Amino acid sequence: MQLSDFEQALFDGVHGDAKARAMDLLVRYGEALGAERLVETNNVAGAFNASTPSIRQLAEEGFDSVYSKLNLDSDDTVEIPHVAVPTCQLITGIDNENWALQGVDAPLAKLQQESEKFLGKRGINLMCTCTPYQVGNVPVKGEHCAWMESSAVIYCNSVLGARTNVEGKESTGAAALTGRIPYWGYHLPENRFANRLIDVDIKVDDMADWGLLGYFIGLQVEEDIPALRGITHQPDMIKLKHFGAAAASSGGVELYHIPGITPEAGSLEQAFGPNRQPEPIRYTEVERRSTYERLQCATDRKVDFIMLGCPHNSIEQMALIAHLLEGKRIHRDVALWVHTPRAIRQVADRSGYTDIISGAGGVVMSDTCPSISRRLPKGVRVIATDSAKQAHYLPAITKVQGWYGSVGDCVDAAISGEWAGTL
Ligand code: F3S
Repeated sequence: MQLSDFEQALFDGVHGDAKARAMDLLVRYGEALGAERLVETNNVAGAFNASTPSIRQLAEEGFDSVYSKLNLDSDDTVEIPHVAVPTCQLITGIDNENWALQGVDAPLAKLQQESEKFLGKRGINLMCTCTPYQVGNVPVKGEHCAWMESSAVIYCNSVLGARTNVEGKESTGAAALTGRIPYWGYHLPENRFANRLIDVDIKVDDMADWGLLGYFIGLQVEEDIPALRGITHQPDMIKLKHFGAAAASSGGVELYHIPGITPEAGSLEQAFGPNRQPEPIRYTEVERRSTYERLQCATDRKVDFIMLGCPHNSIEQMALIAHLLEGKRIHRDVALWVHTPRAIRQVADRSGYTDIISGAGGVVMSDTCPSISRRLPKGVRVIATDSAKQAHYLPAITKVQGWYGSVGDCVDAAISGEWAGTL
């Protein structure tokens, strides 16, 4: 791998042990990927927080040790300096306010808070959400980023036109200290053209529909780059957020193009660039119905947990849920958790949405989600969610039954205790 003089100095330890470890990791990682060089990044989104029970023992050695071992893959502990470039913490395992409701014990909740003090002192912005682009981290078209979290990566690449691969704890840990990431994959312009074509033959309008379309496409194209033809409605951020999260869950889609809508595809020709346009895969009412049925992993219509906010809700979604719940009461056998970034939660508080949701018996959660924390209300057997991603993962991770539907279907189920959603 070719290094600049500055990168070589980092590698040689001129700027300290931690940066030398970080460069060593990036060079090993980049060489394994066939990258010929590194690229500068000014935007890192990673996972640094100490929020899992398994970290307790390591944390007894101090947070330098946690970062060294888990974010730099170093056997020794090195002193961790201030980050070199803007860096944020993605979603974490514990809601700093609702940890008891999650079933987290007090020492572990305190550990996360202590860890956050350590990270904050080193310049890591504690956004604690899988949607950093909703709370101020909005890279521009062409910007090289080092992001983790599949739903954030696909949004970053496709909707914003910035460039990132799906990074890991270690590579983002090293990127934060050096401002470098291997130049490969989606950083290279020639790797960003579509190679699969999807003909969308039906109207795709609401959020649940976009989730179904994303889930279908992920199953079909796996890790390829789809371009969509036939979209007749302008999607907003919420729909694209759900679409991308679903496509990244059922497949491994990290980039897609919608000509005329996403920034790198003014036309279908531009989306494909030098690539030949393949035979289209059709999405009709038949595929929509079969995708919907595939996502229903439940048989019991009696639900006991409703999970909303995957990816984390926007303020508009919080407003909608509050509107649907106003003057209503959640069924006594059902728990409703609504997830949103803490920064948006503050707006929801001020706007009165949190009071309406909690007045109806729901809980507004931040910082985490059940798939990441692997924590659900006690005794849950059947869940319902408005997220194709959550419907995909939660039954697999926690062995619950799952229903998928619109926000309205989910709120109705929270009130009645019964799933009555239909396509
Ligand atoms: Fe975010 Fe958790 Fe969903 S990380 S995308 S809320 S599974």
